[in-house]
Amino acid sequence: MIIDGKKIASDLREKLKKNIIEIKSKFKIVPGLSVILVGEDPASKIYVKNKEKFSKEIGIDSKVIRYPENIEEKTVLNKIIELNNDKNVSGILVQLPLPKHINKQKVIETIHPSKDVDGFHPINVGNLSSGYDTRIPCTPLGCLLLLKEIEKNLSGKHAVVVGRSNLNGKPMAQLLLRENCTVTITHSKTKDLKSECIKADIIIAAVGIPKLIKGNWVKKNAIVIDVGINKTESGIVGDVDFNEVSKIAKAITPVPGGVGPMTIACLLNNTVECFKRTNS
Ligand code: GUN
Repeated sequence: MIIDGKKIASDLREKLKKNIIEIKSKFKIVPGLSVILVGEDPASKIYVKNKEKFSKEIGIDSKVIRYPENIEEKTVLNKIIELNNDKNVSGILVQLPLPKHINKQKVIETIHPSKDVDGFHPINVGNLSSGYDTRIPCTPLGCLLLLKEIEKNLSGKHAVVVGRSNLNGKPMAQLLLRENCTVTITHSKTKDLKSECIKADIIIAAVGIPKLIKGNWVKKNAIVIDVGINKTESGIVGDVDFNEVSKIAKAITPVPGGVGPMTIACLLNNTVECFKRTNS
């Protein structure tokens, strides 16, 4: 079975659109999302354009603040402080990666935790690992929603997360733990990745290596979620060898059309959640 991320994301956006109509009639304002983009990274420009497009489509008041590559760190930090204090702004997102002269951690920590739609602030990271209510990073949340389309109850499942980034692997592992999965986190230094993957009921591939996960690495009936977006000569491919693995797995996400659309839908979801938390 191929998991249709486009359709599931579209359903979530429809639900949020209705939510926003209710919010508008009750509060006379709509949730606002401010996105800061620094520089000219082509992938980031596309992501930000899509974030703006889908926000507007569902009724979020979306603003993109664009800075040139050589902007001073102080200017970005001051803008974040201004947005923290703006009651029309429910959520703030600074698109990563940032140029080297800007301290990413400082930027993340300047965003007020209540407006941190990415869930990257250390307070929100801590809340997630402690099992408290928080904003959950968009891509892992999207992966969880896709998994739940296939399997409502994940309790006791053995999940193998391939990759340990702050954006994906680590929060993904925390989310799966919260679902009572047995979680193995693997990464580039893992000795025998194949022997770890083959034990998994669930594989989350978020490592950035094209077609790394092969058919004979996957247990029959496993669910495979592919977070990878790798540019190759033959186009965009995931971290999973789709042709091989789709013959073995019970369910698999395609690339594109799997996790990608869910990331944006979950960003919209988090913006609405930030609004609700500060207005209830
Ligand atoms: N760059 C790639 N993915 C993300 C994301 O989820 N959030 C932000 N802020 N930047 C990204």
